[in-house]
Amino acid sequence: MTGLPIRPARADDPAEVDRLYDVCLRTGAAGDDATGLYTDPRLLGEVYLGAYLALEPGLAFVLDDAGTAVGYVLGARDTAAFESACARRWWPALRDRYPLGTFPAGSRDDALVRLVHAPPSADPAVLREHPSHLHVDVLPEAQGGGNGRRLLETLFDALRASGSPGVHLGVARDNVRAVGFYRHLGFTELDGDDGGLTLGLRL
Ligand SMILES: CC(C)(COP(=O)(O)OP(=O)(O)OC[C@H]1O[C@@H](n2cnc3c(N)ncnc32)[C@H](O)[C@@H]1OP(=O)(O)O)[C@@H](O)C(=O)NCCC(=O)NCCS
Repeated sequence: MTGLPIRPARADDPAEVDRLYDVCLRTGAAGDDATGLYTDPRLLGEVYLGAYLALEPGLAFVLDDAGTAVGYVLGARDTAAFESACARRWWPALRDRYPLGTFPAGSRDDALVRLVHAPPSADPAVLREHPSHLHVDVLPEAQGGGNGRRLLETLFDALRASGSPGVHLGVARDNVRAVGFYRHLGFTELDGDDGGLTLGLRL
């Protein structure tokens, strides 16, 4: 599946949104399928995908295989402004739907619910030169052959057009493949801890 077309996401199409939530889950375990890891199949997408479709639809692009999304890239131009918008318009409804304690303590679902109630905010030191951020996920059958690269380049073009000077992302250290991919594309390490890395690229 090389050279698949890339198009804007249809954020107002419930079937496409459902499909993108599915792509998020099927790539959500450090790049592998997370389907068996969560009780609630929507929750991962609610934390890492839905707000971008709702609040930054112009920076959401999909890899299209005969009308069906098999990958996506999502971005936020101004991470600090995006976090404020999420605080007002995304997290409150999710907190009502997923009160603390919805899932057993220590479960992966519970860890996501805790993020819903206490979302992390980006380090201002990272945002100074890399104010935008992104997420990219491609289903296994569409990985390789340049699809991930072309998705990122589509987003970079859109971010440059909006005047962004730089973009960052978070990646789990154990997602060795993705870390190698980002470094190959020119990302460098901005920050890191035991679990994850923050990588950045000037645009
Ligand atoms: C990470 C991901 C987006 C990469 O997309 P991809 O389609 O597999 O990668 P591409 O084929 O576009 O690779 C682009 C370039 O990176 C190189 N590359 C890919 N993986 C690499 C690696 N681990 N180390 C070094 N180079 C790598 C490719 O050789 C290619 O080089 P070229 O363009 O110079 O010929 C995709 O594998 C994926 O979605 N994985 C699962 C979900 C995930 O982990 N998302 C990231 C979460 S932070």
